[in-house]
Amino acid sequence: VIPPVATEHPLRVLIAEDNEDLGAYLRDILMPEYRVEVTANGRVALDAARRQPPDILITDVMMPEMDGIDLLSAMKTDDRLRSVPVILLTAKASRDEIVKGLNAGADDYLSKPFGPAELTARVRSMARLHESTRALEQERRALHATLDELRQAQEQLVHAGKMAAVGTLVAGLAHELNNPLGVILMNAQSLARTAASESREAKALAAVERNARRCSHMVRSLLDVSRRKPRTLQSTTIEEVVSRVLELAQAEAWRRGIQLHSTPSGPAVPRIHGSPEDLEAALFNLVGNALDATPGEGSVCLSVKPQFWDDQPGIEVSVQDTGSGISPEILPRIFDPFFTSKPAGQGTGLGLSLTRKIVESHGGRIQVDSQLGSGTVFRIWLPAEGAPRVEAAPASLPAM
Ligand SMILES: Nc1ncnc2c1ncn2[C@@H]1O[C@H](COP(=O)(O)OP(=O)(O)OP(=O)(O)O)[C@@H](O)[C@H]1O
Ligand SMILES: [Mg+2]
Repeated sequence: VIPPVATEHPLRVLIAEDNEDLGAYLRDILMPEYRVEVTANGRVALDAARRQPPDILITDVMMPEMDGIDLLSAMKTDDRLRSVPVILLTAKASRDEIVKGLNAGADDYLSKPFGPAELTARVRSMARLHESTRALEQERRALHATLDELRQAQEQLVHAGKMAAVGTLVAGLAHELNNPLGVILMNAQSLARTAASESREAKALAAVERNARRCSHMVRSLLDVSRRKPRTLQSTTIEEVVSRVLELAQAEAWRRGIQLHSTPSGPAVPRIHGSPEDLEAALFNLVGNALDATPGEGSVCLSVKPQFWDDQPGIEVSVQDTGSGISPEILPRIFDPFFTSKPAGQGTGLGLSLTRKIVESHGGRIQVDSQLGSGTVFRIWLPAEGAPRVEAAPASLPAM
C-alpha cells in the first residue's frame, strides 16, 4: 500500500454534501489524516473554495441550490481553483451522472454506498495528484524565473559587448583627432593675431577657435574615459579635493543664481589613497551635472563623512541638488558612455561614465538616488588609506 502523501501541513479537503449523515460519515473517516470542511451544497462550497482554495474537493452530484456539476463547471472557470482535484459522489449505478461529471472535469468518482477503505484510497490517490500538480507548478515557476534571469543576463552581455566595442573605436578615433585639432587651433590663433579686430576674418577665426576648443575638450574627455590606468595615487584628504571643486564651480553657480555650498565634515574623516586630479574631475562632473539640473534659486550641497562599507572603513562624499531629478526610465542608463539628455552640442554624455571609472579605479563605489521633480543625490564611497582593497564588487552602493 502506498503511504499517504507526506506534506508539511495536513491537506485541506472540502466536501459538498447536503445529506448531513453522509457528510458526518465522510468527515469521521478523513479527519485523522486531513483538515476537513463540510458544506451543505455547491453554492456554499464554491464560496468556501474561493475564500481559500482546498487541496481536494469531494462533491455530491444531486444537491439543492447548486449541484455538483455546476460547482465543477464554476471551479473550472476560476484560475485559482481550476487545478483542484475533484472526486464526485454519484448515486449507485448512475452512468449518466458519472459521464456528465467526468466530462465536466471531475478526476474520479465514488458510487454510493462506499466503505471507508475505498474512500481513503481514492482520496489518497487525489492527494498524490495534487502533490504532482503542485510540484509541476513549482518547477514551472522556477523555470520561468531562470528564463527571465537568462534573458536579462543576455541583454546585459550584449550591452556590455556593444559598449566595449564602441569604447575601443572611440578611443582610437579620439587619439587620431587630437593632433589635427591641435594644428587647426594653432593656425586659427596665429591667423587671428594678424586679422584686423572686428573684421569678418577675425570673427570667423574666433568661431573656428571656439569650436576647435570644444572638439578638443571632447576628445580629451574621450581619452580620459578610455584611459586604462589611473594617475599616480598618493595620500590625500578628500576635504582638499572638495574645496578645490567648490572654488572651480563657485563662479558658475553664482552666475546661475544657485547656492553652492558644503556642509562641515564630521570629525575623524580618514585620509584616502588616491589621485587628487582624478577625484577632482570626478566630483567636478557631479557638481556640473547638479548645476545643469538645478534652476536658479536652487541649491547644490557637497558633504563628506566617514562611512563603513562592508566593514571596511572609508569616506562618503555626496553631491545633492534640488534640481529636476532623474526619471526612472533613464536612470539605468545615465552611467553609459554617450548617454545624455542634454540638447545636441551641450553634453557629451561622458561625465558620469568617467566619474564611475575614476571611483572604481580607487576601489570605491558610486550610487545615485533621485526623486523626479525634487532632486538627486550622488554618493561616492572611497576606501580609507591603508584599508585592504576589495576587488570586483558591484558598482553600486546599497541605500545608506
Ligand atoms: N544631478 C542630476 N540631475 C538630473 N539629471 C542628471 C544629474 N546628473 C546626471 N543626470 C542625467 O544623466 C545624464 C548623463 O550625465 P553625464 O554627466 O554622463 O553626461 P552629460 O552631463 O549629459 O554630458 P557632459 O557630462 O559631457 O556635459 C545627463 O544628461 C542627465 O540626463
Ligand atoms: Mg555631465
